[in-house]
Amino acid sequence: MANYSKKIMITGGAGFIGSHVVRLFVNKYPSYLIVNLDALTYAGNLENLKDVEGKANYVFEKGDILDEQRITELFEKYDFDGVIHLAAESHVDRSIKDPLAFVRTNVLGTVNMLNVSKQYWSKKGMEGKRFYHVSTDEVYGSLGETGFFTETTPYDPRSPYSASKASSDHFVFAYHHTYGLPVVMSNCSNNYGSNHFPEKLIPLMINNIVNNKPLPVYGKGDNVRDWLFVEDHATAIDTIYHNGENGGKYNVGGFNEWKNIDIVHLLCGIMDRKLNRPAGESAKLITFVKDRPGHDHRYAIDASKLNTELGWKPSLQFEEGLEKTVDWYLSNEEWIKHVTSGDYQHYYEEQYKK
Ligand code: NAD
Ligand code: DAU
Repeated sequence: MANYSKKIMITGGAGFIGSHVVRLFVNKYPSYLIVNLDALTYAGNLENLKDVEGKANYVFEKGDILDEQRITELFEKYDFDGVIHLAAESHVDRSIKDPLAFVRTNVLGTVNMLNVSKQYWSKKGMEGKRFYHVSTDEVYGSLGETGFFTETTPYDPRSPYSASKASSDHFVFAYHHTYGLPVVMSNCSNNYGSNHFPEKLIPLMINNIVNNKPLPVYGKGDNVRDWLFVEDHATAIDTIYHNGENGGKYNVGGFNEWKNIDIVHLLCGIMDRKLNRPAGESAKLITFVKDRPGHDHRYAIDASKLNTELGWKPSLQFEEGLEKTVDWYLSNEEWIKHVTSGDYQHYYEEQYKK
C-alpha cells in the first residue's frame, strides 16, 4: 500500500451525505487513503460515487457496522487513524414503523464501531487518532416558536430515530470519558442537495412534481426545519475533523428556517418555471395528509460555535441551493429512475464483482 499521510474509514459513504463527504475528502486530500465502508442497504447507492470510483486513494469495502470481525479485519488491513461515522438508518417515518432496526444499526452499530476503534487504537496508542460521529439536531427535541438548540441544550429525543441517535451520542462521549477514545461530534440540521433518496421531503416533492403525482404535506405543513446544502455539511465535517477539539461537540446548521408548506410552494414555483408549466400548475398537486405521529414542531440550530471557533459558514443561500438541487434532479433522470425502480442495488455486483 502506498505511503498515505492519513488512512480514514468513512462509514455510510454510499448514502446521501456520506457520498458528498467521500467525494470531498478523496478529491481534496490525494495524500489520504479513503475507505468507504457501507452495507449497501436500500439507502446506499454506489452510483453516487461513479466519479471517484477510479481514484487511487479511494477504496470501497462492503460491510456492516454491526460485524465486529469484519470491522476489526479492516482496521488490521488498513491501519486507520481516523473514522468518520455516518452509517445509520436515517428516515424518521421508517423508525416509527420499525424501531428495532434503528436500535440495531444506530445504537449497537455505533457501539461496535467505538469498541473496535478503542481495541485497535489501545494497542497502537491513541495519539493522532480521531473518531468522528455525525449526528443530528433531532436529539435536542422540538422547539416552540422561538429559541435555538445550542451544544448545551439538554437531549430530549421524541422519535425512535432521534432516540437511537441520542443514545449513540451518549455512547460516543462515554467512550471518550471512560477509555480516553479521541472523539469529536457534530449535530446537523436538515440537509438537501443532489443524491438525496426520494423518501425525504425535498427529493420526494421534486420527483412527484415531475411525475404529476400528489405532494403529501403532513398535517398543516406548519412544521419548521432548518435547511443546509449537503456540500456545506461536507465542508463543516472537513473543518471539524481537522480542527475540532478532542471531546468537542459542534452544531451545524444553515440559519435558514422554513415551514414545510412554504418550501413546497417555493419548489412548485421553481418547477413550473423549469418545466414550462403555467404558474400555479404544480401547486395544484399539494395534498394535506395525516400528520406524522409525534411530529416535532420546530428545529432551529445555533451554529455560532462552529463559526466563531473554527471559522465555518454555509456558502449558499437556500433559494440558490434549491435551484441547483432541482437542476441536478432534472438532469439526472437515470439516477432517479434507477433509485425508484431498485436497479441501483445491482450496481455493486455489476461493477465490483466482475
Ligand atoms: P442515508 O440514509 O442516505 O445513508 C445511510 C448510509 O448508511 C447508506 O449508504 C446505508 O447503506 C449505510 N448503512 C446503513 N446501515 C448500515 C450498516 N449497518 N452498516 C454499514 N452501512 C450502513 O443517510 P444520510 O441522510 O446520508 O445521513 C448520514 C448520517 O448523517 C446519519 O448518521 C444521519 O443520522 C446523519 N444526519 C443526517 C441528516 C439529513 O438531513 N439527512 C442531518 C443530520 C444528520
Ligand atoms: O434534522 C435533521 C434530520 O432531518 C436528519 O437527522 C434525518 O436523518 C433527516 O431525515 C431529516 O429528518 P426530517 O424528519 O426532518 O426529514 P423529512 O425529509 O422526512 O421531513 C422533513 C419535514 O417534512 C418534516 O417536518 C416532515 C415533513 N414531510 C416529510 C415527508 C417525507 C411531509 O410533510 N411530507 C412528506 O412526504
